[in-house]
Amino acid sequence: MKLLILSDLHCDNNHQRLGKSIVPAVSSYIREVAPDRVLVAGDMAGGADRCIRYIEELEQNSGVALSYIPGNHSIWTDKRTDSWHEYEKLRDHHSSLIGKPLLLGTDWAVIGDMGWYDYTYREDSWSREECVSRKESYWRDAAFARWGMEDEEVTDRMLDSFRTQLEAHRDRRVVFVNHFIPYDDYVPISPRNKVWNMIRPFMGSSRIGDLLDDMPHVEHVIFGHVHYRFGTKRRGDKLVHCHPLGYTSEWQSQQIEKEIRSASCVIKL
Ligand SMILES: [Fe+2]
Ligand SMILES: [Fe+2]
Repeated sequence: MKLLILSDLHCDNNHQRLGKSIVPAVSSYIREVAPDRVLVAGDMAGGADRCIRYIEELEQNSGVALSYIPGNHSIWTDKRTDSWHEYEKLRDHHSSLIGKPLLLGTDWAVIGDMGWYDYTYREDSWSREECVSRKESYWRDAAFARWGMEDEEVTDRMLDSFRTQLEAHRDRRVVFVNHFIPYDDYVPISPRNKVWNMIRPFMGSSRIGDLLDDMPHVEHVIFGHVHYRFGTKRRGDKLVHCHPLGYTSEWQSQQIEKEIRSASCVIKL
């Protein structure tokens, strides 16, 4: 069983920035790798409808089924709807892993959901109120992610869903996927980059990592969100994979054909 891992394709933004769709190049790369399934760890595009359109285009053009969990951009919405509405649209799509672990053979399960952030990565000297005010100034979720509840409560919901599903599949080896950073060593304070330091609280939750640390049957952990290609690293008994595509302004080249190769990895189960 071969899984191709992708994240943060931002198909809509990258189309705009490149002046052409990235779908043909990504599809042709998928055909070349010929995985049994593609797994995308969020941020396909902005809003659920666009995500679904790109998921279906990629599936049709590559001929390979895709499993998806939302990123923060996937649930962005205007004032007419709330983000749960976007989340539920994606949950109900055939590609979704939300509440529907993908069982592969007799041994493996792919378990995933969006995840969220809860300010556990804030600097020790920052109060919660300071995080909230920095979110307003520096982080676009403040305008477009509308949960009707606090970020910590969204994270609590995600943690409950992860725990329940991970407990229920203790008899299997697990590939875990969420959009956000589960480990604090991926969110170091920068000596130079002040904007990065401001947005660290919105990168993920160490509570997700703590949960995974208690689950030895989780052998692979996949995330995106941070647009830095950390690659695949060993962490105790797990392999941790972070291979986001990100925006063209963050790429080494302006060639999608080249970038998609370094923004992906294959897991063989
Ligand atoms: Fe992203
Ligand atoms: Fe993101």
